[in-house]
Amino acid sequence: MRRSRHLLAPLLILAAALPAPAAHPPAVRGGGGAVASDDPLATAAGIEMLAAAGNAADAAVATALALAVTYPEAGNLGGGGFAVLKFGRQVASLDFRETAPAAAHRDMYLDADGEPDPEASLVGPLAAGVPGSPAGLHALHERHGRLPWARVVEPARRLAADGFEVTPYLAAVIAEESELLARFPETARVWLPDGAPPAVGTRLRFPELAATLAAYAERGPAALTGAETGGAAAAVEAAARRHGGVVTAADLAAYRPRWRPPVVFAAFGWRVASMDLPSSGGILIAEALGLVERRSYPTLPRFGAERAHLLAEAWRRAYADRYLLGDPSTSEASAEELLAAGRLDALAAALDTARASDSEDVAPGAYLPPAAEAAATTHLSVVDGDGNLVALTTTLNGLFGCGLWVPELGFLNNQMDDFAAAPGEPNLYGLVQGEANAVAAGKRMLSSMSPTIAWRETVDGDAAAGGVAAVALGGRGGSRIPTATMQVLLALVVDGDGLQAALGRPRVHHQWLPDRLRHEPDALAPETRAALAARGHALEEIAGVGVVHAVGWRPDGGVEAAADPRRGSSTAAVVKLSPR
Ligand code: DON
Repeated sequence: MRRSRHLLAPLLILAAALPAPAAHPPAVRGGGGAVASDDPLATAAGIEMLAAAGNAADAAVATALALAVTYPEAGNLGGGGFAVLKFGRQVASLDFRETAPAAAHRDMYLDADGEPDPEASLVGPLAAGVPGSPAGLHALHERHGRLPWARVVEPARRLAADGFEVTPYLAAVIAEESELLARFPETARVWLPDGAPPAVGTRLRFPELAATLAAYAERGPAALTGAETGGAAAAVEAAARRHGGVVTAADLAAYRPRWRPPVVFAAFGWRVASMDLPSSGGILIAEALGLVERRSYPTLPRFGAERAHLLAEAWRRAYADRYLLGDPSTSEASAEELLAAGRLDALAAALDTARASDSEDVAPGAYLPPAAEAAATTHLSVVDGDGNLVALTTTLNGLFGCGLWVPELGFLNNQMDDFAAAPGEPNLYGLVQGEANAVAAGKRMLSSMSPTIAWRETVDGDAAAGGVAAVALGGRGGSRIPTATMQVLLALVVDGDGLQAALGRPRVHHQWLPDRLRHEPDALAPETRAALAARGHALEEIAGVGVVHAVGWRPDGGVEAAADPRRGSSTAAVVKLSPR
């Protein structure tokens, strides 16, 4: 099993080790827009935009940029992500996933014996993909924003220049990751002054990052990715070279985000839009929802063994298919092929409701026509007063990415680990991936991120989804993002939970390999565990399945926002606007 002691273990125990979140109040409600994110200062930046008559795109970008300053474990300019948007009737998705640098090649993470080197794709700048956030966030604003670009960047610039106070949460997460952060002197100087995390209450200021953000506000992404001396791109190249990385300023200059059609499908009477390749998230959710809907999920008792079994069997098959997926240029299957109604009918009909299948017998791409066979992330959700929605997930991959802090840019990602360093070997999240996701220059590494929007085409005033007619949601948690997001969606659209209740429900997870039905401590009653074991499931208790944030829009124009109670710093807020 390929895992890093430094990176994986903290990810799994974090929920237990960090300061316990206060019990979350019910979802906040208001009228003029809402934001849910992982950090209160970032949520406030989004609310500031909405209060200044900005729309959901302005608020999403301002929130994401503020996270790049105040939420260093995952917020970033040095990483990438995805956004799914619904503006009026127009549904779109933006891919600002990192790409492999021009110097990347298939065997770059193998040691002299041809074995995968667990650290090479996780620690230090060799693990970094070419950042997509600078150009991506700008592209999102350029197409959909209403406020001037400089206004949207300003809250983040201000936070970097004037500083913000270290919270107990931030001090704890730095302490958790101190081994990684101590590896690079540039990082340690800022994040471990005197060898320990800055004390709670210390004011952190980032003058170089503030200067980068000021230039970004003035000139857009060229200010970050242009190769001029003294710019952020040159700083990234120099820092990478010092520590054995291959990312160059030219890589940053060549990076382009892509607008792509999202995966759009129907489930339980709702329309759903989620991310297509190079994320596997939307395909996993669409496939698994298609399977459980075909096997009468709503009629099965809530929290019982039947539902958990059905979910596990659906996810086992969807994650097996994930083996075929990768960058659209090399993927061995597409959403269209995997989600074809006839194929889902055949897969669903063959599901055994009485016995767990063995993952070894579940082949990727079952029932595909032969031709096809040849072939500490952070999420934010925003809704504005007009009902426009943005679900945006961005990531450095591991907490604090590759560990290298570039003062002009922030932390650099370690997204290259999302490629199959050696096809067939598990990555940081235990995902076993195929040839379609092998490393090659310029390719985007397969993701599980699942920014998702679901809405009712016609609103008939019934009580589904706790009165909410449209939601934007998504989350963090590596390979568990699609299963966490899907369970929140099911709680909303099948069980009629309110937003906050849907986030709070305990969750389960299965990802084909390893062949285990994982569950949060309070997800399954002892008799349910026994019933699942009797069906042949190998059960494993884990601390958490994802962290999801959601906002919702009600037919009366009201909005709601809710943050996952699983992580201490998350916040949701709404704004009440005077009429524009
Ligand atoms: O894109 C992906 O699927 C991963 N890099 C996401 C990593 C993640 O969620 C880590 N956070 N908790």
